[in-house]
Amino acid sequence: MQTIGILGAGQLGRMMAVAGYPLALNFALYDTSGSPSANIGKIYSDPNNAQTELKQFLQEVDLVTYEFEHLPLDLANRIAKIKPLRPGVRALQVCQNRELEKRLFRELAIPTPAYAIVSSAEQLANAVEQLGTPVVAKSLTEGYDGKGQAVIKHIDHCRQAWQDIGHPQLIVEQFIHFRRELSLVAARGTDGSTCFYPLVENNHQGGILRFTIAPAPSLDAKLQSQAEAYMEALLADMDYVGVMTLELFETEDGLLANEMAPRVHNSGHWTLNGAHTCQFENHLRAILGLPLGDTAPHGVSAMVNLVGRHANVAGVLRLKDTHLHHYGKSERPGRKVGHININAENYTALIEKVKLSLQQVPESSTLQCSIAGIA
Ligand SMILES: Nc1ncnc2c1ncn2[C@@H]1O[C@H](COP(=O)(O)OP(=O)(O)OP(=O)(O)O)[C@@H](O)[C@H]1O
Ligand SMILES: [Mg+2]
Repeated sequence: MQTIGILGAGQLGRMMAVAGYPLALNFALYDTSGSPSANIGKIYSDPNNAQTELKQFLQEVDLVTYEFEHLPLDLANRIAKIKPLRPGVRALQVCQNRELEKRLFRELAIPTPAYAIVSSAEQLANAVEQLGTPVVAKSLTEGYDGKGQAVIKHIDHCRQAWQDIGHPQLIVEQFIHFRRELSLVAARGTDGSTCFYPLVENNHQGGILRFTIAPAPSLDAKLQSQAEAYMEALLADMDYVGVMTLELFETEDGLLANEMAPRVHNSGHWTLNGAHTCQFENHLRAILGLPLGDTAPHGVSAMVNLVGRHANVAGVLRLKDTHLHHYGKSERPGRKVGHININAENYTALIEKVKLSLQQVPESSTLQCSIAGIA
């Protein structure tokens, strides 16, 4: 039996392990952040013995992957010398720095919002003057779930935004009045073969993903092939192995790349119940050099994130075509504690079912998506 090592022991690692058991895989997870929640496989998590834990973890595993891109690069380099690390260090390096990421998009002729890099409040004000308001300022590294970001609507707010973000370097982006947000989840195997899920539509509120609709409603083949071409270029450039996600803005003038994630992604959770092969299994197949699985969807799906509060378990389980994924985490404002996947034959039926499921979620997010009004 092979043992897969996962760096990070949150819900993504947990779902990866769940998907790997039918393939007779074992899992070991390394996470010394002090709050591992995966509760599956063998967990190495003692922060007081991080080095010993790492040594034992590496002895036990055949292959290492990660569920989280903000890993120290020297740690990733050390690991890669001892066991195969997939995806590799280059993907981590690019994806954990918004400047390197945007630069790679530009090099590969993938359009992005206009941006500038700044290292002081004065430079921030200059960039805002050049780009025009509003802008989104983001810490260059370490951001997730909209953390370390500020929308600046007036040039006088630069000093405050600089202080609030509190980071030595920021990327300042033109604020995009997008039609909607889309993302593409893809996988690339060790032999360079690729597969793509359909583009999905995502809704964020307060910087946190709330809803995904899959496939994205009124998706045309041209949009899908454009997104796939961008993804192909990125995967080939990084000689990437595993699942990767590209977040996009759909605008009047086409697609703009927002960011990418070198891992399974929240906007791919619908695949657990809505596609022939889920993203977690495809990630494992890719890193193990196995054939990639069918990415075709079954009908249409929605993913409702449970942010901060758990759903009424029995209430959700009573609903037809509705699947609860409970991460076993305690409630905390802004924390992703689970999600609900909903399947239907058409979008009208889907929205009806989403609305029923939201009745089982205390303080649920308001349903926002391009088809929220059809049912
Ligand atoms: N330039 C922009 N114009 C308009 N909205 C933006 C822009 N950049 C980001 N946003 C909004 O903020 C959200 C979070 O931004 P981004 O994806 O860059 O951050 P993040 O913290 O890395 O998110 P995550 O890791 O959760 O995907 C986006 O999904 C989008 O809704
Ligand atoms: Mg994002």
